[in-house]
Amino acid sequence: MKRLRVLVLMDEAFVPPDSLEGVSDEEMLEWKTEYDVLTTLEEMGHDARPLGVSDDLGAIRDALLEWKPDITFNLLEEFHGVAVFDAHVVSYLELMKQPYTGCNPRGLMLAHDKALSKKLLAYHRIPTPKFLVYPRGRRVHRPTRLHYPLLVKSVIEEASLGISTKSLVDNDRQLQDRVEYVHRELDTDALVEEYIKGREFYVGVLGNQRLQTLPVWEMVFKNLPPDMPNIATAKVKWDVETQKKLGIETHQAKDLDETEVAAISRLCKRIYRALSLSGYARMDLRRSEAGQIYVLEANPNPNLSYGEDFAESAHAAGIPYDQLLQRILNLGLRYKGYV
Ligand SMILES: Nc1ncnc2c1ncn2[C@@H]1O[C@H](COP(=O)(O)OP(=O)(O)O)[C@@H](O)[C@H]1O
Ligand SMILES: [Mg+2]
Repeated sequence: MKRLRVLVLMDEAFVPPDSLEGVSDEEMLEWKTEYDVLTTLEEMGHDARPLGVSDDLGAIRDALLEWKPDITFNLLEEFHGVAVFDAHVVSYLELMKQPYTGCNPRGLMLAHDKALSKKLLAYHRIPTPKFLVYPRGRRVHRPTRLHYPLLVKSVIEEASLGISTKSLVDNDRQLQDRVEYVHRELDTDALVEEYIKGREFYVGVLGNQRLQTLPVWEMVFKNLPPDMPNIATAKVKWDVETQKKLGIETHQAKDLDETEVAAISRLCKRIYRALSLSGYARMDLRRSEAGQIYVLEANPNPNLSYGEDFAESAHAAGIPYDQLLQRILNLGLRYKGYV
């Protein structure tokens, strides 16, 4: 294996400290992905160097010109505090002719706009919940073509930001309140979807042209109160107390037969291609009680922390963490964009 100079691009706030001395587990959670990637790349024999940025493209330019990395490992999640600007930073890397890991700008742009991606998926007859977009500054009209219960979320936000049990609405009154909440608190347009009652699956995909899917992963709620929906709210995703209380676990989905797993794998590859994704991504799916699979969203550049769903499902497929990072580097080096 060739020793590579890898510039690990990350948010300024998430640059790990030089030493772990005196660092609490909670503090470490903030920059665990960055830490895991940097230390693993070093252990693998690569020359990995962190670059933290927030709003200065100059810092990226200087690092590229002075250090001449073979590749940039892209862990950046926002620029100027704006999540969708990550696509522009990757465009800049392309303009600098710099190979990078993860998704290309076009895929990032398409997948980050949930409404736009659903329109593309509909063209390809890929099942996704029926939906409406409620733009900011417009009256909340009755959703005549949709059936309650509905789920209200932001059209562009990630990480379940703004998603709580109140996001699930049963009538016009609750719908109006929640759409106004998304407009006011998240300052984005609202996406309103039919609620798919059922199991929740996550499927990792790796590749540029030739794609590999990872085993189907499931989020389970072992202590879900009977009147509570199994929604991956912000608290379920990020609050350890809530996770303990509801008995949240993620592991390989059990009791799916081979034919169904193969069908899910084919579906995820179609989603990946329909949205022009590259590098690696994770699909969020729901399986209705009737057994129909729906895609909720595609996540390019998903969380790469050691021990998190993507890495765990790769592990289950026989790809340990260091090999996973090497695969991601190789895909980045081989990716041919516009040039
Ligand atoms: N149409 C839907 N039906 C059922 N659950 C949904 C639906 N949309 C979102 N959810 C729930 O909300 C969570 C977050 O929604 P998602 O679209 O994946 O946004 P995010 O980008 O914040 O992860 C999902 O993991 C799922 O639990
Ligand atoms: Mg999601």
